[in-house]
Amino acid sequence: MLRTHTCGELRTHQVGETVTVCGWVDSRRDHGGLVFVDLRDRYGKVQVVFDPSEGAEQHAKAGGVRNEDVLQVTGRVVARSAKDVNAKIPTGEIDIRSQSLVILNKSKTVPFEPGTTTPPNEEFRLKYRFIDLRRPRLQELIIFRHRLTKLIRDYFDRDGFLEIETPMLGRSSPEGARDYLVPSRVHPGCFYALPQSPQLYKQILMVAGFDRYMQIARCFRDEDLRADRQPEFTQVDIEMAFVEREDILRTADGLIEFLMKEIRGTQITLPLPRLTHREAMEKYGSDKPDLRYGMELVDLGEVVANCGFSVFKNTLAAGGRIRGLCAPQAAEKYSRRQIDDLTLFVKDYKAQGLAFFRVTETGLDSPIAKFFTPEEQASIRAKFDAKTGDLIFIVADKPAVTSAALGALRSRLGKELKLFDPNEMHFAWVLDFPLFGWNEEEQRWDAEHHPFCNPVPEDVGYFETDPGKIRATSYDLVINGYEGASGSVRIHDGAVQQKVFDLLGIPAEVADERFACLLEALRYGAPPHAGIALGLDRLVMLFTGCDNIRDVLAFPKTQKASDLLSGAPSNVDAKQLKELSIRVEEPPK
Ligand code: AMO
Ligand code: AMP
Repeated sequence: MLRTHTCGELRTHQVGETVTVCGWVDSRRDHGGLVFVDLRDRYGKVQVVFDPSEGAEQHAKAGGVRNEDVLQVTGRVVARSAKDVNAKIPTGEIDIRSQSLVILNKSKTVPFEPGTTTPPNEEFRLKYRFIDLRRPRLQELIIFRHRLTKLIRDYFDRDGFLEIETPMLGRSSPEGARDYLVPSRVHPGCFYALPQSPQLYKQILMVAGFDRYMQIARCFRDEDLRADRQPEFTQVDIEMAFVEREDILRTADGLIEFLMKEIRGTQITLPLPRLTHREAMEKYGSDKPDLRYGMELVDLGEVVANCGFSVFKNTLAAGGRIRGLCAPQAAEKYSRRQIDDLTLFVKDYKAQGLAFFRVTETGLDSPIAKFFTPEEQASIRAKFDAKTGDLIFIVADKPAVTSAALGALRSRLGKELKLFDPNEMHFAWVLDFPLFGWNEEEQRWDAEHHPFCNPVPEDVGYFETDPGKIRATSYDLVINGYEGASGSVRIHDGAVQQKVFDLLGIPAEVADERFACLLEALRYGAPPHAGIALGLDRLVMLFTGCDNIRDVLAFPKTQKASDLLSGAPSNVDAKQLKELSIRVEEPPK
């Protein structure tokens, strides 16, 4: 070892000892003959003092060190005098008096200092990720990620789960995004798909008898990226045999309880709250509502049924809905211009408009208030239980549009009005998603989760009559407005699986061709089974209060799926392509 101690661990009880530390120069200051260097490693920082009286050569060398040079210092630990103690850092009560300095490596002038309080733009940071990752905040996140992963493995290990690796080079699994394909050299013209998730394999493991499986699994999806999505991400993937939905929920509840205790030191109450998909959409307009605050959606259909405002009346007549929410004490906080801005915002969710009422001592204040009688105004106010100073927003539209627009508005207002404690973590289950969703564009039914999700048994009758009504035995774990996990009870009965494929319009030959291995496995004594996958990156984000998924990965990709550090994706040699029997069309400029 080139060191006896790390930079972060020295305290007053080492005073008098001779130690050797290694690290990066965080800063250097020259003061009347003495040179002070803050030396940093991932454990912390320590101040090293170079005094000419302790050796002229090492002192002279120290005068020439630059930020981010890598040093090895041997010296004596001394206590600082009371006036020099730095209470802000754990090593602030001591100094190292250097006796010998080795410059292990020089650094070029860094593009930005790891200690900067104003880091440069993200693209630049990603290009110089090796410097970026020296920033204490990123080090903290990466270290936390390790710890969280370890805790998760411990929890499942204790419960008899086996971690089993599944292939990266496999067949496409049906999660619904685009696959990343890998060409085969040995089978010209054939491709592997990187797994969107280990779904098929984990079900097959159940058939094979490994009744408790878990894996920290890398998944790959070629989809549009957002702040909470990466093309390459990690799931805590779980599958269990001889279980019902309740068992998966309880297992996941236990995991969350364990993590909250270990990480936050808090005891949470189990079971975690549950709501149905229908309730979530009705009360919050979202299948992943942030439940750290209320501001529930309210239906005004009855109250405004006979009002004089034609937009509302016509919407009701056309089978639409009038719904709204009441933003507490927001009347003064939103100017007319800001409300216009919110109107544009809900239009992104296809809403035609956004009506608003400021709640005053005397009634409702709005350009459209004149269309409502005093009784109607009083009823609107009562419906929301609105207080003076509140701001009511209303959307009249097709039912699904009112949910989407108000759900998004609720989430935006929740943040703008700071309706929650950013440190709180709120977990809840959303259950009974619809099994199928109608694809308006392609005029057909799509599986909402994936085609192996079991219908709620009492809904099976709707296959012939009203497929939109069939509920799935599925569940999402919602954390602070994010989908943190998702899973379902699987189909293990061939006849039910056939019904699903029929409805999805997947002909038997195609199903057999695409999912052959699973379908065949299900015919050889498949136990009832169910599972779930948690988004590990999202969990790290949520536990650390980060709002950018890229910060919790050592080497993330940009919104355009590029790795700016390595330059991936890149062109490859003609020779490589030839070996793979691939000809590339003139790439777009
Ligand atoms: P699903 O597709 O819902 O389910 O994924 C499970 C969880 O993974 C996380 N996640 C992502 N995180 C970061 N970037 C992404 N692009 C991304 N996509 C998904 C989310 C999500 O809840 N095989 C099923 C699970 C099962 O049925 O057992 C599946 O993959 O947190
Ligand atoms: P207009 O009649 O288009 O001038 O709209 C009058 C007010 O009603 C404006 O504040 C609009 O934003 C609002 N409005 C229009 N259409 C809707 C709608 N579908 N839902 C809610 N408010 C609407």
